[in-house]
Amino acid sequence: MMDWTDRHCRYFHRLLTRRARLYTEMVTTSALIHGDVARHLRFNAEEHAVALQLGGSEPADLAHAAKLGAQWGYDEINLNCGCPSERVQRGSFGACLMAEPQLVADCVKAMVDAVSIPITVKHRVGIDQGESHEFVRDFVGAVSEAGCKTFIVHARNAWLKGLSPKENREVPPLRYALVHRLKQEFPHLTLCINGGITRNEQVEEHLRELDGVMVGREAYHNPWWLAGWDQRYFPSGRPGFADRLEDTGTLTREAVEEQMTGYMAREAAEHGTPWSAIARHMLGLRNGLPGARRWRQVWSDHRLKALHPRDVMALAHGADQDVA
Ligand SMILES: Cc1cc2nc3c(=O)[nH]c(=O)nc-3n(C[C@H](O)[C@H](O)[C@H](O)COP(=O)(O)O)c2cc1C
Repeated sequence: MMDWTDRHCRYFHRLLTRRARLYTEMVTTSALIHGDVARHLRFNAEEHAVALQLGGSEPADLAHAAKLGAQWGYDEINLNCGCPSERVQRGSFGACLMAEPQLVADCVKAMVDAVSIPITVKHRVGIDQGESHEFVRDFVGAVSEAGCKTFIVHARNAWLKGLSPKENREVPPLRYALVHRLKQEFPHLTLCINGGITRNEQVEEHLRELDGVMVGREAYHNPWWLAGWDQRYFPSGRPGFADRLEDTGTLTREAVEEQMTGYMAREAAEHGTPWSAIARHMLGLRNGLPGARRWRQVWSDHRLKALHPRDVMALAHGADQDVA
């Protein structure tokens, strides 16, 4: 998620779940071709398994970007066919690509030929006011023939005119049944559902028929939810997933915060990253607990930027200091 799931956020989320797959923000092919590759692709070894999401619509550029992603060690390349923003539409990628399944198939084929890691696609169930099931069925059919075996489906249409990206995550109705129907039509494909999922009961209901669930906003705002996922959804482990890290079974919020302060100190020393650029992602960690408001205020107080993160943590848990 743009501006949210940067490498600091992913490091934090990986402390909470060893086994859920993490996704980067969307990185455009032009950012990789003309920009600072290391700035866009650098990530922490602890983040595995981590997928790089690309935005683009030129097969050769996407193949080049996918190769860079594979060289940098990503576990999966995901193509964005769901973003409705006007800027992205001007670049002719994101959700508007759903109208061009053959072009998406060409993009996927170019990437599949270029790298050996999986190429996956994230898309919507339709664009604008279209309600036709055939539209998304034919999209998945064409793209899967090009070598994509995993689809992450945001169960809403993208309305390409008249709605902001934020409204496009709220206004078009959720159509979960349509995603379930896709799985019946393509039982050999890995079908993951996304959109509006905020509780374990919903996750479990979808997992009865589908292969996976992607959670965006709720995971970001209430990150402690993730701490129960490994036991609940991957009780027998998951080969290849962050095996070097200890289990999350006995995790506490305090231990996570402690590890984050260590990470903040290392990041400051090695890359000059201010702790606030990291702490902003964990502000929901104590949601629902007594003192959560004060804790959040301290960790978002930029006037404390000269302090060592360890001292910020002490302040955040202190009872009487006035930080308001
Ligand atoms: C701030 C923000 C940034 C997002 N950026 C991306 C993105 O870069 N790529 C993408 O595929 N989806 C992006 N999304 C959409 C989410 O991945 C997800 O599809 C959407 O929020 C619905 O899922 P949710 O209800 O679990 O949040 C973004 C969402 C938000 C809130």
